[in-house]
Amino acid sequence: MAKLPGVTLSSCEKPMPVIGMGTCSFPPADLETTKTAIIEAIKAGYRHFDTAFAYGSEKPLGEAIVEALTLGLIMSRDELFITTKLWSSFAERDQIVPACKMSLQNLQLDYIDMYLIHWPVRLTGRVRSMPVEKDAIKPLDVKGVWEGMEECVKLGLTKGIGVSNFSCKKLEEVLAVATIPPAVNQVELNPTWQQKELREFCKAKGFEITAYSPLGANNTKWGDNRVMDSDVLAEIAKSRGKTVAQVALRWVYEQGVSLVTKSYNKERMKQNLQIFDWSLSGEELEKISQIPQRKGVTLASVLGPHDLVLELDAEV
Ligand SMILES: NC(=O)c1ccc[n+]([C@@H]2O[C@H](COP(=O)([O-])OP(=O)(O)OC[C@H]3O[C@@H](n4cnc5c(N)ncnc54)[C@H](OP(=O)(O)O)[C@@H]3O)[C@@H](O)[C@H]2O)c1
Repeated sequence: MAKLPGVTLSSCEKPMPVIGMGTCSFPPADLETTKTAIIEAIKAGYRHFDTAFAYGSEKPLGEAIVEALTLGLIMSRDELFITTKLWSSFAERDQIVPACKMSLQNLQLDYIDMYLIHWPVRLTGRVRSMPVEKDAIKPLDVKGVWEGMEECVKLGLTKGIGVSNFSCKKLEEVLAVATIPPAVNQVELNPTWQQKELREFCKAKGFEITAYSPLGANNTKWGDNRVMDSDVLAEIAKSRGKTVAQVALRWVYEQGVSLVTKSYNKERMKQNLQIFDWSLSGEELEKISQIPQRKGVTLASVLGPHDLVLELDAEV
């Protein structure tokens, strides 16, 4: 497997492989299943792994890295790019460094490559089940939280910092207080939620967009099958001898963004990497641009339809 293309980030020295393996599974996979899938992904050529405190996949990822080193699949941890995320229950100035250290402990690592604010909200206390009570959701203290994120960089806990699920408006708020601008904004992006406005904004400001749910998170609680069942994508896939998943992932890549996609199936994870030696035609791109648009992953579906949450979901 040839080395995957990398992207240069604005405030992180290490290039990020343009495609990463997601580790949020539905139904939640057990530790051994996740660890085995990650080792298979390393064998298949993945070098970027996307996890989060909230997914419960930091520990199996850490164990998989130890095993990959023991097996000689990688020579050094530095060959990997590890992204993890600050959970909203810890999104307060004085809790960020401890939360980052907790993730490092789970991952058995000395440093993270990219640490993201998972969602632009704060949850009070230790929320244990979803949806949450209205009172548990608070606006994010952008200044305090970003200071905490920057402190993680200064302490060497992470190489880069960024955000996830941030609108143009929320990104402006971060920029107004940042001394280190966010390198990445990880958001839902796929042929059925193309995010044109946000893409243009991020390009102009120098933020890398990483697309999550590029296949629409089919067969999960948070996604749907609109991408995988799209007639437009199916027709293109048939005529090109590709799968619908490959057409969707290639389209995402051709939008000039990086992506994280999840498969714990050995064949599908390999298939998902085979998107770099062909391209979509102008006519095919035009057809995909006409696909009806609707956001798939909403904060309201996770936290409940509370006013602040609905407001955030409505922002572009
Ligand atoms: N920042 C955030 O708030 C956020 C939100 C959601 C997701 N994410 C991250 O992004 C990653 C990817 O997004 P996602 O998991 O939501 O969705 P996704 O990658 O769009 O889709 C994953 C689903 O597609 C299936 N699949 C994968 N490759 C396939 C193929 N070639 N053909 C048919 N089905 C295929 C997977 O099943 P199999 O495993 O059985 O192949 C799984 O059910 C997550 O794992 C997570 O790391 C971040």
